[in-house]
Amino acid sequence: MKLQSQLNAAFTALLIVIMAAAGFVIHSLIMDLLIKDEQRQLEETGELLVSFLNEQYGTEDDLRSFNNFLKEQNLQLFMYDRNQDAVLFSTMSLPVANDFFQQNDFSATDETLWSYGKDRFVTSRILFYNISGLELILLTPMDDLEIVQQNFFNRLLLVFLIGAAAAVFLSYFMTNKLVTPLSQLKGQLKKIEKRQFNEMDRIKATGEIKEVEQSVYEMAQELQRYMNSQQTFFQNASHELKTPLMTIQGYAEGIKDGIFDEKESEKGLEVMVTEVKRLKGIINEMILLAKLDSEPADAKPVAIDAKEFIEKIVERTIPIVNEKKINFKQSVENNIIIVADEEKMLRAVLNIVINGIRHAKSEVSIQVMKKKQIIAILVEDDGEGVSSEEAAHIFHRFVKGKNGETGLGLAIARAIIEQANGTISVGKSELGGAMFKILFETEKHKDKS
Ligand SMILES: Nc1ncnc2c1ncn2[C@@H]1O[C@H](COP(=O)(O)OP(=O)(O)OP(=O)(O)O)[C@@H](O)[C@H]1O
Ligand SMILES: [Mg+2]
Repeated sequence: MKLQSQLNAAFTALLIVIMAAAGFVIHSLIMDLLIKDEQRQLEETGELLVSFLNEQYGTEDDLRSFNNFLKEQNLQLFMYDRNQDAVLFSTMSLPVANDFFQQNDFSATDETLWSYGKDRFVTSRILFYNISGLELILLTPMDDLEIVQQNFFNRLLLVFLIGAAAAVFLSYFMTNKLVTPLSQLKGQLKKIEKRQFNEMDRIKATGEIKEVEQSVYEMAQELQRYMNSQQTFFQNASHELKTPLMTIQGYAEGIKDGIFDEKESEKGLEVMVTEVKRLKGIINEMILLAKLDSEPADAKPVAIDAKEFIEKIVERTIPIVNEKKINFKQSVENNIIIVADEEKMLRAVLNIVINGIRHAKSEVSIQVMKKKQIIAILVEDDGEGVSSEEAAHIFHRFVKGKNGETGLGLAIARAIIEQANGTISVGKSELGGAMFKILFETEKHKDKS
C-alpha cells in the first residue's frame, strides 16, 4: 500500500472514530437537554395550573374552563394523592389511566420518564401548596422530543459529512504535498544507482524531507568525486605500470629474437633489471597506500623527539645531498615531541625532503617549531616551486609534474600525516621554490595517543 494511501486511510479512520464518538455524545446530550427543557416547560404550566386550581377549584364553570385549557394545551395530567397512593383525577380515559398506574411507580418522585406500552413520557410534578400530599403530574410523549432530536441529529450528520469530505480532501492535498517530494527523491536515488550523476535534479521540499534531499545530493556529489578519482587513479596506475612493462617486453623480445649484439643484450638486461626494480617499487608503494587507507589502526604511535627525528632524516639524505651538492639547513626548536608511528612518519617527511632535494637548485631547509600548541614542520627549497594549479592535485596518486617520477610520494606522505591527525599543504617558499607545511595540533595529537 502506498504511503499516501496509508496516511489518508489512517486519517479517515481517525476522523470516523472521532465523529462517531462526538455524534454519540451529542445524540444523547440533545435528548437530555430536550427532556430537561420539556420538564421546565411542564413545570411552568403545572405551576400555573396549581395556582389556578388552588384559587378557583370548586365551581363547575371553573372546572370546564380548566378542561378547555388542558385541551388547548394538549396536556395529559394526573392528580395524585401521595398519602393514599391513589389517582384522584386524570385527563385520560379510565382504562388508560389504570394501565398507567399499573406500569409506573407514581410514588417514586425522582422517576422522570414513564412508559406506557411502547411509548415513553416525560413527567413533571408540582405539589399543591394548600393540600398536603396532593400532586399534579403532567406528561408529554417522548415521540415529539425524538422527532426534534432526529431532526437536529440529521442536520448535525449533514454538517459532519460535509466537514469530513472537506477534511479528507484537505488530507489528500497535504499528504500529496508530503509524498510527492519523497517519490521524486526515489527517482533521484534511482539515478544514483545508475550513476547518472549529471542528470540529478534538485527537489522542492521543506523540513526534514529537505534535509534528507540535501544529504542525498551531497552523498551523490561525494560519490561522483570518489568515482572520478578512482577512475583517474586506475588510468594513471595502469599507465605507470604499462611503461616499464613495455620497455621490458621490447628488450626481452629483442634478445629472444637475437636482434641485439652481445653488448646491446647486456645493456638490455640491465635496463630490464632496473625497470623490474622500479615496477616492484611502484607496486610496493601502491600496496602501502592501500594499507594506509584500509588499515588506519595499523599505526603504532609513539612520542618522537623532533631533534632526533630530523637527525634521522639528515642521515638518510646525506648521499643525495652530497651528490647534488645541496646546502642543507636545519633548525629545530628544543623539547618538541611529535606523537606518530615513527617509521611511517620518517617515510612521509623523507618523501617531501627528497622531493625538495631533487627539485632544489642549491638549497633545502627544514624547520620544526611550536606555536600555541601547534607543531609545524616546514620543508623548503629554492627550486622551480609548485604552481597553484598543480598544488591542488600533487597530493593525489600518480599525479606528477614535468620533472616527476612516479607521483606516489606525496600521496603516501599525506596519508601518513593525516593518519597521525596532521595536515599537509604546499605554498611558496621565501627561498624561491616550494614550501611544504606539516601541522600537528598537540591536544588532538595527545588524545589520539
Ligand atoms: N619540492 C618540489 N618542488 C617542485 N615540485 C615538486 C616538489 N615536490 C613535489 N613536486 C611536484 O609534485 C609532484 C608529485 O610529487 P610526488 O612526490 O608525489 O611524486 P614524484 O616525486 O614525482 O614521484 P615519487 O613517487 O617517486 O615521489 C612531482 O612530480 C613534482 O612535479
Ligand atoms: Mg616524490
